[in-house]
Formats: sequence, structure tokens, C-alpha cells
Amino acid sequence: MPTKKAILSLYRDFAVAPIDERLYGSFIEHLGRAVYGGVYQPGHPAADSDGFRGDVLELIRDLHVPVIRYPGGNFVSNYFWEDGVGPAESRPRRLDIAWRSTEPNLVGIGEFARWCEKAGAEVMMAVNLGTRGVTDACNLLEYCNHPGGSLYSDMRVSHGAKEPYSIKTWCLGNELDGSWQVGHKTAEEYGRLACQTAKAMKMFDPDIELVACGSSSSTTQTFPQWESTVLGHTYDCVDYISLHQYYGKRGEDTANFLAKTVNMEYFIKTVAATCDYVKAKKRSKKTMMLSFDEWNVWYHSNQTDDDIMKNRPWQVAPALIEDHYTFEDALLVGLMLITLLKNCDRVRMACLAQLVNVIAPIMTEPDGPAWVQPTYFPFLHVSNYGRGTSLRPVLSCGKHDTRDFTDVSDVDAAAVYDEESGALTVFAVNRDLENNAEFRVDLRGFPGMRPVEHIFMASDDLTARNCAAGCAVRPQRSVVSPMDGGVYDCVIKKASWNVLRFSK
Ligand code: AHR
Repeated sequence: MPTKKAILSLYRDFAVAPIDERLYGSFIEHLGRAVYGGVYQPGHPAADSDGFRGDVLELIRDLHVPVIRYPGGNFVSNYFWEDGVGPAESRPRRLDIAWRSTEPNLVGIGEFARWCEKAGAEVMMAVNLGTRGVTDACNLLEYCNHPGGSLYSDMRVSHGAKEPYSIKTWCLGNELDGSWQVGHKTAEEYGRLACQTAKAMKMFDPDIELVACGSSSSTTQTFPQWESTVLGHTYDCVDYISLHQYYGKRGEDTANFLAKTVNMEYFIKTVAATCDYVKAKKRSKKTMMLSFDEWNVWYHSNQTDDDIMKNRPWQVAPALIEDHYTFEDALLVGLMLITLLKNCDRVRMACLAQLVNVIAPIMTEPDGPAWVQPTYFPFLHVSNYGRGTSLRPVLSCGKHDTRDFTDVSDVDAAAVYDEESGALTVFAVNRDLENNAEFRVDLRGFPGMRPVEHIFMASDDLTARNCAAGCAVRPQRSVVSPMDGGVYDCVIKKASWNVLRFSK
């Protein structure tokens, strides 16, 4: 088999930025089996006394997800949060028109905050700016964050939660640029509403952080004018603008599929440039940060979903958007994580969408175990080993063209250095489908570094999947050789995900 060469040079002083741990956030929406039958399933053998599945919690704890966006998604745009609080027996069943399902409201903000505590994560809460507005956002904020002595905070206390949930990060609606969104708005309409809501919420607490809705993908017709107009209204009162992006493989080959992070890079850079344009127009000193609060691969389940929503609507927790991921999907997830790390100076938060059952790394069997998809592993590795400062990866390697992209690097990589522990980790994907690569990591700028381990995922079958009965796609370890003059040489297999761990 022919071998190509790739060299990654890392320098201590060439840093992208310190990584905000919220880059490894995720997302749980009231959608399909994410909540009911996913995180919450009273009566399941693995359920705890609150009805939360312990097997799912265990898998999530291993991921060390710091923040989880909730309760939507499209769901939030017609959500009445009051339906989900108070005694469970008096909560209404509602029709969720976004997903044409019935919402039993057995889980609401109280249960979710409690579950997040068990998962070791914070809540990132979205307010409904589709069919509601300033008043309801403020009431919800008071219910969640005020200690007591007012209508909504006392209501929370009477519901059994003496301590406030102290939610720091709030999303001002969801994808309101999208025609599918309940309460879809023009950029002008949304910009004004988001600004008014943000101002009121910050009057309650100036220390909360607010995310305005950016475009729901880089291909929407209104991108990037949407960002420009929305930020024109909200620049001074929000802290982040959101990006959402899902990639699928539709009538294209794997090489083109794995090149999609070229588009992700363009999306991030264009949003950042648009923010800076508004900053200049406003003569502002503030730099707007980005929240990539929905990202993933999503395409396998499209036809099944159409059938359920059209022909069998109004079920409770139907099996919607349950993509059964392949090994090549895991490679693209790895590449998306690398792209986030390379841009973490602007992208401060990101949410893998979603976490359980719905386009998720973790799946549950209704009467059986929880299990993990191939995409679980790159996220596990980057979240666990990617804490510290993202280093600027100076990479020299071959390039190739695909159907939609030119000059795509054969290898892509990111590196993270943790000054405190002395750990340095390189994440690399060889997206060359034919050739292994001789991979050199030049660490002469880090005297005393030693290789600790080389974890990799490779498979001759790009379509290999996992299932409840077994984990066919899982990481392996390769033997590490000693450093030679501050340089580490290894082989990264064709079509592979790699984690090279070094330490002093
Ligand atoms: O994550 C699934 C859906 O994708 C979300 O509800 C929506 O925000 C996006 O379009």
C-alpha cells in the first residue's frame, strides 16, 4: 500500500486560544425518544428513583459534557414551560406541532435540572421566541434563577426546589430564520424581539450570557444578511450568535462527504467576519463570540421521519431522527471537532446535537441496554483529552479535490496543550481513503515530551455500525515508539481517527 507524508509542527507560543470547556456541550430536545425512553424511563431496570436511566447517565458522565442545551430545538418555539412544572398528575398533554408528537410534560425544567446535576452538566436554557416573548422569558428566568420572595421563584420553591437552578447561559429562541420554525420571523422582526428580550433578561441579571439566533445552516438564503441585521439590533446586549450545521451524504462519495468541514470552516469564518463588520459599524470595542450550538451528521433517518410525521402523527415519543451511524460518520464527527478546536478563539461554545437517541452518540433499547454509536468515540476523546489551550496546527501534507471542494488536505489535525498537567494531545484524521500516512509530529518546541499512547479508529468497512448486541466500531491502541530528537513518527492508517497523547 502506498504511503504519503504529513508533518504537524507545534509551537508553544503559537496558540489559537484557551478552550472554553463549553465547546464540548451537547443538546437534548423534547423530540422523539431523547427525553422519554432516552434519559427518562421510569420502570426500566436501569432507572433510578427519579426515573432516570442510570446506564445512560453513566455513558454521559464518561463524556464529561459540561453543558446541555434544552428543551429545543424546534420544540421550544411553541413551548409553554409552565406545562412542565408542578405536580406531574396535573400537567397537561400538549400537541407539539414542530414534531407532530404528543408532549406528556412529565419532564420539565425541574426534572431536567435535577438530571443535569446527576450528569455533571449545566443547563443551557432556550426561551420560546416563536410564539411567546419578553414576558414569558422573564418569568422563566425568575422561576429558574431567583432565590425566592416573588411570584415565580416562590412557585419553584413550592414545587420542591428550594435552591434556584442558577442557569448562566440562555438561548434567545431557536432557528427563527427557518421557514419550518413555528413563529418564523424576518431578521428585522427577530432582531427587535431578541434585543428587547435580552435587555429585559439582563435587567434581571447582567451576568447571564445570551445567545442570539444566527442562521440555521450556511446554505440558507438569508445567510449572512440575517446575522448582519440581527446583530445590528442585538450587538450590545447579547454575548454570542449561534451557528447550526448538519452534514449528510446524499448522492456523493465518501471523499466529498469527508471534505464537508471545508464548508464548516467557511461558515465559521464568515459569521466571525460578519460580527466584525457590525462591530466596526457600531464603533464597538466588544468582540462577538460564536456558539455552534447544533452540529452533527444527520441524514440516515430522513425518510422514516417523513413517514411517521405524515402518516402516524401525535404519538408520545415516536422514534424520530434515529440515525444509525457508520464508521465514516465518526470520521466526519472527528473532523468537525478538529474544526471547532482550530476556531476556538471565536467559537466558545458548541453543542453536539443531540445526545440520546435523536441523532445521538448514545442509543437506548426500550427493554434493553444503552449502547454507543461510532460517533461516541471521537467526542469522548476530544472532550476528555482536549482541555487546555488549542495550538495552531502548522500542517504540511498532500491535497486532493472532491466533487464540491478543491485543495482538501489529506490529513486534518488539531492539538491541545494543558500547561498545568503538561499533557499535549494531537487529534488527527487521515481522510485519504487509499493511503496510510507517515505522520510526523514536530515537538521540538516542547522539550521533554514523551509519547503516552496512540488511540485510533480504522476500518476497512466505512459503513460499519454498532448495535445493542455489540460494538464493532471501537477505538484500538497502537504501539508507541520513542521520540527522536523532539520529533515523533508514526503511521496513521488510511481513513482513520487518531489521538496521539504526549506528556512530560
Ligand atoms: O436537532 C434537530 C433539529 O434540528 C432541531 O430541533 C432544530 O433546531 C434543527 O433544525
